[in-house]
Amino acid sequence: MDVTTLPSWQKLTAHAERARSEHFRDLLERRPERGRTCHLQGAGWTLDWSRQRVSAEVMSDLLALAFDRGISTATEAMFTGQRINTTENRSVLHTALRANAHDSVVVDGVDCVKESQAVLGAMRAFTERVLSGDEVGATGQRFTDVVNIGIGGSDLGPVMVTQALKDLQGGLAPHFISNVDPTDAHEKLRGLNPHTTLVLIASKTFTTTETMANARLVRTWLEAGLPRESNIGAHLVALSTAVDLAEEFGISEDRVFGFWDWVGGRYSVGSAIGLSVMLAVGVSAFEEFLAGMRDMDIHFRTAELANNLPVVMALLGVWNRNFLNIPTRAVLPYEQYLHRLPAYLQQLTMESNGKRVAADGNAVSIETAPVLWGEPGTNGQHSFHQLIHQGTQPVACDIIVFSQSRHDAARQHATLVANALAQAQVMALGRSASELHAAGVAPDLVEHKVMPGNRPCTLLWSKVLTPHSLGALVALYEHATFVEGVIWGINSFDQWGVEYGKEVATRLVPFITGDDRPDSAVPEFTSASIAQLRSLAESD
Ligand code: F6P
Repeated sequence: MDVTTLPSWQKLTAHAERARSEHFRDLLERRPERGRTCHLQGAGWTLDWSRQRVSAEVMSDLLALAFDRGISTATEAMFTGQRINTTENRSVLHTALRANAHDSVVVDGVDCVKESQAVLGAMRAFTERVLSGDEVGATGQRFTDVVNIGIGGSDLGPVMVTQALKDLQGGLAPHFISNVDPTDAHEKLRGLNPHTTLVLIASKTFTTTETMANARLVRTWLEAGLPRESNIGAHLVALSTAVDLAEEFGISEDRVFGFWDWVGGRYSVGSAIGLSVMLAVGVSAFEEFLAGMRDMDIHFRTAELANNLPVVMALLGVWNRNFLNIPTRAVLPYEQYLHRLPAYLQQLTMESNGKRVAADGNAVSIETAPVLWGEPGTNGQHSFHQLIHQGTQPVACDIIVFSQSRHDAARQHATLVANALAQAQVMALGRSASELHAAGVAPDLVEHKVMPGNRPCTLLWSKVLTPHSLGALVALYEHATFVEGVIWGINSFDQWGVEYGKEVATRLVPFITGDDRPDSAVPEFTSASIAQLRSLAESD
């Protein structure tokens, strides 16, 4: 059913007429107590939507929309393993990866929680052997470094989490090779010792061109750096659903940590794909991370819609995108350790919900995922916040802040928190011409200094960044993405849009290497570029 035909959607459309012409200051005047009433808690996080351009009436109709769209039923369908990824005929069970060990979700006669626990147990045992020195390289030396080769969901999650938990790293030093650009491998391998380097080939399909090219490159690097006849296999591990392909590559079955087609790439950091994280931060920190995800899963599954963080976060996203027509969303973590969170969320939200057809195959009649971007605060303030405050395009922001630093620097942390709150305040209220006149600003500068405000912003806060709070935060965004997808009526779990580009690139490779000449199937502008780049490469 087209979502725009729902009475709740139509009521929201009517509210939006008014909301677009009124300022956040008007909302505040009507309900000055917003700061005390517009927030909710779950799994150690508070979501404060008091600076959103959402009145109590709008929130009530947004909740009605969630109800009309059957969010609770859809959520149960996901948690119980129904095949909600319809275009790939798959269940969507990343929640089973972090379920309690005694839980059970059976799909086609297989208990997915039991399967997950078995792999987790194997990861745990392997990590303990590596960190204790029982598992060593081909020449008997202990491993000091781990290189994860993967891309997209097989890279962004582990990178983001290892960076976020950097000060807990007591295990192997993690390195990540993702780009097929040989520069990436070259730079990451520089300074590493093959004798003490463990290599994880992280690929759900074990066919991704970039990953397989880098895997071959790194295998050659190991062969060149280790004595002849060494057991290179002692340095290789695969993280994959394709055990057979990993074996073909030369990795024995007992060194393959598996996962399943019911774990989407961008939802896989809690699966075997997280092995680099476990090797870097240790078993218990990784388990704490999973526990944080689990706590948010339980909150999402059990809290009523009005008190449900992922649901309310998604509804705010829908309001901003579809009713206030705000095309982009900035995620601004005021925590340097979260500096890769925006990149991680780009894949999560835009690969999931960057869709133009509904699950039934008909074109959607509404906008879907906004462009997501961001940087940590306060750095972003000295860069793109100018556009947020005074540009012509509105931006909706998520500001993430912790009440405590990971470091003993409370006074400096207070400056960080002050900046986060100041930005949220200025985004909401702006600064009017009359305030500027009253402050004695020269008349010819007043317009230049006016800040319109009315930029909606959600504040997300927790006490301190820990593996647990990080896990809960990741699960919060995962579930909010899911809820948005249900409201938009799309399948959030396929990614056909990235497949075709891969095919086209594969066909062009022989033309660029010169092994073949572009045929008539290659557009003129592409063959012209190939010719120009080849002649540039061959020039002196
Ligand atoms: O970029 C598309 C994609 O399919 C992502 O969804 C996935 O995370 C990534 O490629 C990597 O795929 P694989 O893990 O199979 O190598």
